[in-house]
Formats: sequence, C-alpha cells, structure tokens
Amino acid sequence: MAERKRRMHLGMFLQGAGHHMAGWRYPDADSGGENLPHLLRLAVAAERAKFDMVFLADGLTSSEDGHPSQIARFEPLMVLATFATATKHIGLAATASTTYGEPFHLARAFASLDHLSGGRAAWNAVTTSYSSTGANFGVQHPAHADRYAIAEEFIDVVRGLWDSWDDGAFPKDKASGVYADQSKRHVLDHKGAYFSVKGPLNVSRPPQGHPIIVQSGSSEPGQTLAARTGDVVFTAHQTLDSAQAFYRQLKGRLAAFGRQPHELAIMPGFLPVLGGTEKEARDKLALLDSWTDQSKVLPMLSDRLGHDISGYDLDGPLPELPVSEQIQSRAKLLTDAARREGLTLRQLAQMVATGRGHYVMCGTPEQIADRMEEWFNGYGADGFNVMPPYFPGGLDDFAAGVIPILQKRGLFRTDYEGETLRDHFGLARPKSRYAHG
Ligand SMILES: Cc1cc2nc3c(=O)[nH]c(=O)nc-3n(C[C@H](O)[C@H](O)[C@H](O)COP(=O)(O)O)c2cc1C
Repeated sequence: MAERKRRMHLGMFLQGAGHHMAGWRYPDADSGGENLPHLLRLAVAAERAKFDMVFLADGLTSSEDGHPSQIARFEPLMVLATFATATKHIGLAATASTTYGEPFHLARAFASLDHLSGGRAAWNAVTTSYSSTGANFGVQHPAHADRYAIAEEFIDVVRGLWDSWDDGAFPKDKASGVYADQSKRHVLDHKGAYFSVKGPLNVSRPPQGHPIIVQSGSSEPGQTLAARTGDVVFTAHQTLDSAQAFYRQLKGRLAAFGRQPHELAIMPGFLPVLGGTEKEARDKLALLDSWTDQSKVLPMLSDRLGHDISGYDLDGPLPELPVSEQIQSRAKLLTDAARREGLTLRQLAQMVATGRGHYVMCGTPEQIADRMEEWFNGYGADGFNVMPPYFPGGLDDFAAGVIPILQKRGLFRTDYEGETLRDHFGLARPKSRYAHG
C-alpha cells in the first residue's frame, strides 16, 4: 500500500483500576478489571474519541504486591468479545503469551475475535517476562533468548493457521450441495523446534487476513521479532532522544525483512495528567503519588528490575545490578533514568508506581498536545498508547481536552475512514501464503 499522509495513531491502554497505582482512589474514579459496565463504558468513550484501538494487557499470575489493575482481571479476549458488540469501529487489542499457550488455541481465538468484530482484532504477542509464571504451568520459566526463539516460531505457526482457508472457502451452495470448498483448504503441517501443528484451523480466514500483530518487547531479540512480524510496536521511553534512537533503530531493521518503514507503527506509552494549569496538573500528580501504598512499591520495582532490592537503602542510589533475564528493556529504562536524574531508590520506586516506567506528561491539554506533536513530528513516535492514571475521568479529560487540539492541527482523525483496524493503520491486508501471483 502506498504511504499516505502521516497521521498519529492512538491506542487507549485500558487497565481496570487505572495506570497510576493509586488511581482507583481518585474521587469519582470507578475501577475493576472485573467490572464489565465500567470497562464497556471506557471502550465506548474511546470509540467516541476516535482512538485507533483499545488495548487490554494481560498476565498469568496474581501477586500480593501487584498493581491493583493486575491482581484480578477477566481474561481479555472474553472482554473484547463484549466490546465487539458494543462498538463498531475501534480496534480491539489484547495480550496473549507465546511462552504459555498453544498456537492453535491462540490462532483460533484471535481469528474468532476478528470475525466477531468485523476485522478489528489485534494480538499483543508477549513472551511473558515474569519468571513466577512458570509455577502456574508446572514448568521452569524459559530464559530470555529461548522465550524469543519460541515466539518466532509461535507467530509463524499462528500466521500459517490463519491462512488455512482461502477467502470464499464456504460457498454453502444449496444447489450443488457444497458447503465447504475443499480446494480452498490448506494443511499447514508444521514441524519445528518447539511446535508440531498439523492444521488446518477450524475458523475461516479472518476479515483482516491476519489480525494486527503488536510487539511490546524492546530488547535486541524483541526488536528483531518486531521487525519481522510486527504491525505495531508498544514501547516505553522517558526522553525524546531515547524514543528517536529506538525509532531509527527499529525502522532501520525492516529493510532486512523486505519491509517499508511505514509498515510498522511505533507507539510509546505515556500517562497524561491534565490540569487547567501546569501547577494544577502537578498538584494532581502529587496527590495521586501521596496515596500510593508504600509497602507495594519496592516489590514492584524489584519485579521491573528483575532483582530483589529490598535490602538496599531507600534513600540511597540504585546499586549496580547485572542485566535481568526478565524485562530487559524496562530494567534498562529505569536504570538509565535513575542515573540520568540522580534518583534515589525511593524516587525510582515511585516512578514505577506512577507509570511503571512510562513517560508522565503533566500539564494543560495544550502542553500535552504540543509534546505529542513534538514526539510525532520528531520521529520518536507514529502515535501513542494513552495510559490514563485513573478512569473514567482521566480518559474523558484527555478526550475532551487533548484530542480536539490534535484534530484541529490535522494530526489526528476526526472520523473513522475505514472498516478494519488495518484500515485505521493504513496497512494492507496480507496475502495468503497460498495465494498465486
Ligand atoms: C505498552 C506495553 C504493554 C505491555 N503489555 C504486556 C502485557 O500485557 N503482558 C506482558 O506479559 N508483558 C507486557 N509488556 C512487556 C513486554 O511484552 C516485554 O515483556 C517487556 O517489554 C520486556 O521485553 P524485552 O525483554 O524484550 O525488553 C508490555 C510492554 C509495553 C511497552
């Protein structure tokens, strides 16, 4: 597909209890990853604001020190199935693991969601960073490099299964008695290092051909996987310099896989904290920070760093730690921030409690729109994953304040122009591997 005028893409990253660890305590905040009316209301609000997609993250553990949004939450694809019937345009993205799961199940679930939603499904393919997950599956958590090797093959199998049936494979022709046209059925017959999957899939080809694939690992192997298989990349950066370096590096990797830069959208996440004045916004953030449960912040930081830091002086600097096997890119981001800004462990832990290492934009709607424009025009981002600190107010304020400014500047759509999530991203429908010509 030819490159069209570059337009900002926006994802609404939905966490039931908000992104700030204390967001659920904000006056008027509603919360709950199991509160369906709340979740539905947010999906509908995001569609009204013309977001490209709504995204539900996921994990396969529940930790006593976990973020309130992550302790208990519904399985995300089930929630997205309800969103599919409550909305018409917005893309529906969910995380599913390539380390803990089977490609057949996953290909089937996302193909089903793509059909249910008329071509709006996206899969955030994650390798699952947290080693404690292994205990829920009776296995040892694989090493970082192995997780990515598994992910490479997993995604290939899923994409192969999505091509199991050509378009129009089910004529249901009463006159001839042909329900399924077997000449349009393909058996994958995959035998690899990690998976053996015969196929075909028992769901017809998804409306998007392949649902959108999101990648959210930013390590070296994460970037390689994204360059080969990703349509969208989620990432976290604290500075424009870091976002630009990542953007250049990742886009530069695409050519090796025969791909064009515009075929992959890079979307860093950020927390918008809005106020009528910058001071009002900063006061709001200070209030949220003051409500943070301090007993939880160190374990959360330890999780992100991949090292237990409970024995260290909270008012001292971050100690020198070896590279973690867990979340490589996030551990690096936090370490860089601590060194760059001279943060104490306590301050670094608060940064994780506030936005888990994502950039916090504090200010008036105008100031936030300016910053977004700077990152977008400066090629640090093709768009953003918007992470409201609390719901629904944090989303409603962003939709009412920031989006109209972006629209007025011609940076963001005023209405949906296509049907599918691929249309929203300007991405072509992939040809089946069995297509001729
Ligand atoms: C916006 C965003 C959303 C993410 N969502 C999830 C998620 O839902 N589940 C998960 O296990 N990991 C999630 N991750 C983490 C990544 O998948 C990945 O494990 C992490 O960034 C470390 O990858 P790396 O080791 O390649 O740096 C997310 C990351 C980002 C930036």
